[in-house]
Amino acid sequence: MAWRWLGAWLLLAARMACSVAKALARALLPARPRDLAGDSVLVTGGGRGIGRCLALEFAKRRAWKIIIWGRTEKYLKETTEEIRAMGTECHYFICDVGNREEVYRQAKAVREKVGDITILVNNAAVVHGKSLTDSDDNALLKSQHINTLGQFWTTKAFLPRMLELQRGHIVCLNSVLALSAIPGAIDYCTSKASAFAFMESLTLGLLDCPGVNTTTVCPFHTSTEMFQGMRIRFPNLFPPLKPETVARRTVDAVQQNQAFLLLPWTMHILIFLKSILPQAALEEIHKFAGSYTCMNTFKGRT
Ligand SMILES: NC(=O)c1ccc[n+]([C@@H]2O[C@H](COP(=O)([O-])OP(=O)(O)OC[C@H]3O[C@@H](n4cnc5c(N)ncnc54)[C@H](OP(=O)(O)O)[C@@H]3O)[C@@H](O)[C@H]2O)c1
Repeated sequence: MAWRWLGAWLLLAARMACSVAKALARALLPARPRDLAGDSVLVTGGGRGIGRCLALEFAKRRAWKIIIWGRTEKYLKETTEEIRAMGTECHYFICDVGNREEVYRQAKAVREKVGDITILVNNAAVVHGKSLTDSDDNALLKSQHINTLGQFWTTKAFLPRMLELQRGHIVCLNSVLALSAIPGAIDYCTSKASAFAFMESLTLGLLDCPGVNTTTVCPFHTSTEMFQGMRIRFPNLFPPLKPETVARRTVDAVQQNQAFLLLPWTMHILIFLKSILPQAALEEIHKFAGSYTCMNTFKGRT
């Protein structure tokens, strides 16, 4: 019996070492990137911000069709025209991802008008930007409906066909705040932590599903309208990312079938420290970085 246990542990250690070695080799010598020529990519919140940059980046890398969802027709139309001008087929649909019936209705409309989706990018999100006690209940519910549950509905709508085709990729634009929360955006941090668990569970659930993979991207502060006006204590030490950079790195990760991407890489240090330091020491880091107060400097984007 003891030998069987020892054998099982040794096998596990060997498999883990093999996976780490493969990941290291892939980091040094990246595999040939996935060809996107046969892919139809749907980006939620694709009209503006990071979503717009993602839609443009997928088009630049010769994805077959781009479909963008959002609530504001003006932005959707502008981005669609920009992508069509690049020579890529693009369609937009007005869809509030926080509204389950609307998601299912528009997913059906996409299938009928454009065909199957093989890459789904769950990007749409809002931030209320107030403390728990200052927040209106409906505003708190809204961010959970859009940022977390919206991903349940879009994924439920498109994943079954990806499984049938044995070709699919679900991408989640998450945030560093899913892993290290700050005050003043309690709705946002909670929704992003839930979405992180959603993707972790989904990823493990797809282990035996050939051809269907996931990517979770957790960027640091990015210069879009979402946190516009937010003042960071040391902007030179922690400069915001450009939305184009987030989009480029995200599409790289999809093409390399990378499951997790933290941007910039230095955020790994924060996550590591968070797992070993006592709470008082972590509070010193937050005080130093000014993350206690930075959320009081912006209005939120709903
Ligand atoms: N900016 C940052 O600092 C930062 C950092 C880390 C992660 N992220 C994440 O990156 C993603 C994109 O953020 P961003 O910075 O590009 O924000 P943004 O500029 O505010 O754009 C948000 C996008 O989501 C869409 N959207 C919002 N609610 C929606 C709904 N109910 N249904 C459909 N579309 C909806 C918006 O379009 P409409 O308003 O027209 O619907 C817009 O296209 C989000 O998931 C965000 O959490 C952002």
